[in-house]
Amino acid sequence: MTKSPKQDVAAYINSDRQHVWHHLAPHLPFAEKPPMIVVEGKGLVLRDINGKEYLDATSGGVWCVNVGYGRDSIADAVQAQLKQMPYYAASAGNLPAIRLSEKLISLMPGLNRVFISNSGSEANEKAYKMIRAMAHITGNIEKKKILFRDRDYHGTTISALSSCGQSERREWFGPFTPGFVEFPHACCYRCAFNKTYPGCDLQCAKVVEEIILREKPETVGGLIVEPITAGGGIIPPVKEYYEVLSGICRKYGVLLIMDEVVCGMGRTGTMFGYQHYGIVPDIVTMAKGVASAYMPISITATTEDVFKVFLNDPSDKLAYFRDISTFGGCAASCTAAEENIRIIEDEKLLDRVNVMGAYLLDGLKALSDHPNVGDVRGKGLLCGVEFVEDKTSKKPLAEGKVVQICGAAAAHGVLIGRTNRCLPGMNTIINFAPAYVVTKADLDRILTVFKAAIGEVLN
Ligand SMILES: Cc1ncc(COP(=O)(O)O)c(C=O)c1O
Repeated sequence: MTKSPKQDVAAYINSDRQHVWHHLAPHLPFAEKPPMIVVEGKGLVLRDINGKEYLDATSGGVWCVNVGYGRDSIADAVQAQLKQMPYYAASAGNLPAIRLSEKLISLMPGLNRVFISNSGSEANEKAYKMIRAMAHITGNIEKKKILFRDRDYHGTTISALSSCGQSERREWFGPFTPGFVEFPHACCYRCAFNKTYPGCDLQCAKVVEEIILREKPETVGGLIVEPITAGGGIIPPVKEYYEVLSGICRKYGVLLIMDEVVCGMGRTGTMFGYQHYGIVPDIVTMAKGVASAYMPISITATTEDVFKVFLNDPSDKLAYFRDISTFGGCAASCTAAEENIRIIEDEKLLDRVNVMGAYLLDGLKALSDHPNVGDVRGKGLLCGVEFVEDKTSKKPLAEGKVVQICGAAAAHGVLIGRTNRCLPGMNTIINFAPAYVVTKADLDRILTVFKAAIGEVLN
C-alpha cells in the first residue's frame, strides 16, 4: 500500500475538520482526536491516512463491501462501461441493467421485475409508493398503511424513518408520514410477551393478525421487515416465524416487503435472507451489497402480479408507476453489480460465508461465560453479542462501556461495529460482519482482540 506524504496528512486532517460533515458522528471530539480518514483497502485490510492498518470486521463500517476491498475486476468493468455509455435515464433500457435484472431474477424464484435506484432508503420508498399507487389503481383507495417491526431500520428519508422501529433514530425528525404502524420485534432474548420459544406459540408473529384487524384490513397495504434485523441488534427470528407472518399477509391481501438491504447478496449464507425461511415475498429491496458498495445502486424487485397492476390503458395516468430516480440510469452501477455477483458465484463465497460464519459464531459463543455477555446470535457473517450488567436482570450494560470496547479493539487494529443511537439505553450490541473473503486466521485475530478489549474495559 502507498504512503501519504506527511505534510499532506496534516493538511487533509485540518481541512476535514474545517469542512467535512461526517455521518452519525459528534464533531467536537475531533478537536482532540482527529476523525479517521481512510486512504486504501485490500481484502479486509484498511489503511488510514497515518498509515495505521486495520482488519475491518464491518465490511466498510455499514456491512456493504462484501467481496472485500481492492477488486480490480469491478473497477475495470466500471471503467469500461463509463467509457462506452455512462448514462441515460432509466426510462430507457441499457445493456448492464438488462443483464443485471435477468441475473437478479434468476436468484429470486417467484419475483420477476427490477426497479433500479440509488440507496436502501430509496428502494424502500419505491416499495411504499408502489403500494400506495396500487391502492388507487385497484380501487381499494384506503389500502395504504404499511406495518413495520419494532427494532427494524428501513432508511434515513422521512417516510423510511416513519417506518423505523428504532425510536432513537426517529427522535426530533417528526412530524412523520402518516400511515405507518408498528408491531412487536422478534427477539427471543427480550421477548415482548415474556415468553420462551417454542412454548410462546410465536405470539410475536401471530399478534400481527390482531393489529391488521384493529387497523381494518382494507386500510393495510403492506408490511415491511428485515429478514434478520441488522442495525437493531442482529436478530434472526425463529425458523417458523416468516411462514406465520407471510400467511397472515396473504390472508388479508397485505404485500410482504423484505428489506434485504443488509442481508441481500449472501451476507447470511443464502443469496437473500428470506431464503432461509422457505417463503416468497411480494417485494424485495436491496442496496448495500448489490455492488459491494463499489458503486451506489439499489433495487426494488417485485412479483409479476405487483407489476401487472400497473399495466393499464396508456392514455390513463395510472397506466404506469409514476416514479423516476435520476441515477437509476447509471449503467456503470449495474456493471459493478454484475461483476460483484460474478465474484460471489465464481469464488463460491456463499460457502465461505456459511463455514466462516459458523466459526465466528462458535468463537463468540465461547465468550458466553463472561458475566456481561447476555446473548450471542447471528446467521452467516452477521453476528452480534449483547452486553448486560448481569445475566439475571438482563439490564443493559452502560452504553459507554460498549463504545469503549469498540475503541479498544480499534486501538488494537480491529474494526468492529455496534448498535449506534438506535435503541434508547440499549445500544449495547456489538456486531461482526467481515467481508466474505475472511479467513480463519482473520477470525482468530478478530476474536482474540475482541476478548482482549472486553478484558481491558470490563475486568
Ligand atoms: C436494513 C436497512 N434498510 C435500509 C437501509 C437504508 O439504506 P441507505 O443508507 O442506503 O439509504 C439500511 C441502512 O443501514 C438498512 O440497514
